[in-house]
Amino acid sequence: MYDVYEIRKDFPVLEKVIYLDSGATTQTPKSAVLAMNDFFYNYAANYGRGAHRLSIEATNAFEDAREIVADFLNTPPENTIMTKNTTDSINIVANGFGFQKGDHIITTMIEHHSNFVPWLRQKENGAVISVADIDSEGFVNPNQIDEMITDQTKMIAVGHISNVFGSIQNIEKIIQIARKNNIPVLVDGAQSAGHMELDLKALDCDYFAAAGHKGLLGPQGTGVLYIKNPETIQPTVLGGGTTSDADTCGFTTKSSPECFEAGTPNLPGVIGLGAAVEYLQKLGVKNVESHDNKLAQDTAKRLKEIAGVEVYGPQNRAGLVSFNIEGLEPHTVAMRLDKVKNICVRSGYHCAIPGQKALGINGSSRASFALYNTEEEVDIFVEAVGEIAGSR
Ligand SMILES: Cc1ncc(COP(=O)(O)O)c(C=O)c1O
Repeated sequence: MYDVYEIRKDFPVLEKVIYLDSGATTQTPKSAVLAMNDFFYNYAANYGRGAHRLSIEATNAFEDAREIVADFLNTPPENTIMTKNTTDSINIVANGFGFQKGDHIITTMIEHHSNFVPWLRQKENGAVISVADIDSEGFVNPNQIDEMITDQTKMIAVGHISNVFGSIQNIEKIIQIARKNNIPVLVDGAQSAGHMELDLKALDCDYFAAAGHKGLLGPQGTGVLYIKNPETIQPTVLGGGTTSDADTCGFTTKSSPECFEAGTPNLPGVIGLGAAVEYLQKLGVKNVESHDNKLAQDTAKRLKEIAGVEVYGPQNRAGLVSFNIEGLEPHTVAMRLDKVKNICVRSGYHCAIPGQKALGINGSSRASFALYNTEEEVDIFVEAVGEIAGSR
């Protein structure tokens, strides 16, 4: 049974604040923190098979964590790369794909800068970028993407859930269109992984980028990248860990995932991530999804009833709500919520300037929900927004 009050016992910081900034980073459960402690106290060593006992233990724990994450996403472990964060995952693909003059890339106006700027940068290699529009609720129309495709289209890069609007894109349809035209698709799953049930084998995307530190409940400094066909990406960072042989004439690069994980990996972080994903699996991601979405949808509905409050995004949204109070800067709203009721929300452009500009929004405050938030917290938050709006 899903018992939010039991869950909260695993996140001690929630006794101090009302944490509504899980879209940026979620809190990490005790079991994952203890797994990281265990690494530091009992077997902290570097990655590398066949060395001394601590190294073997550390390597095995890292690989066990990879398997847990791969099992959760339904991906083969060898195609599941441990990265620093979503941004790192997307850059590995954008920089390693080998775009050339005239290659065409399609992305969208809704994207977080992490799934926008790495593609824009490919202009330096002569690539041409097209940007699909969004409607007033933050939805991309897959048919527009279909119409944008040319003989030169080499990549479609699209976010799964908008971190500003909470809109859930029809990525199944976009992938279907891409398949028909034989074009690879990268899905930015920063806001979907851990917040909704995912089966990447069934989804059939070519690349999927996610954060370890958001819905997957792991620590910061962890991310995931799934690559369906690793031979499509050239590793761009080389050195220790990526190389199986080297002499003065050249070197031989290992296969995936090692070839994409140069240098000492984040062993404690990945081990913590594995424990966090296990925790999530026990709760059932479907339960988490309906919990988060219900809180966000209730919040959006109630905020809309307050005079002077503007709410963005569709009613049928994922677990976050961006809003503005007329006449107040988003940062002012966030600071007041913190000061008055210990409420932590995000404010600003949320690293997604093009989409907000396109809809004439000059930044916003954002409440984002996770498995540990309660209806009572929503009550306190909505009341606090009402008080701030009323005292302008
Ligand atoms: C949709 C989306 N993409 C990418 C990112 C960047 O994620 P990270 O901080 O893990 O690099 C975020 C972060 O908020 C996001 O919401």
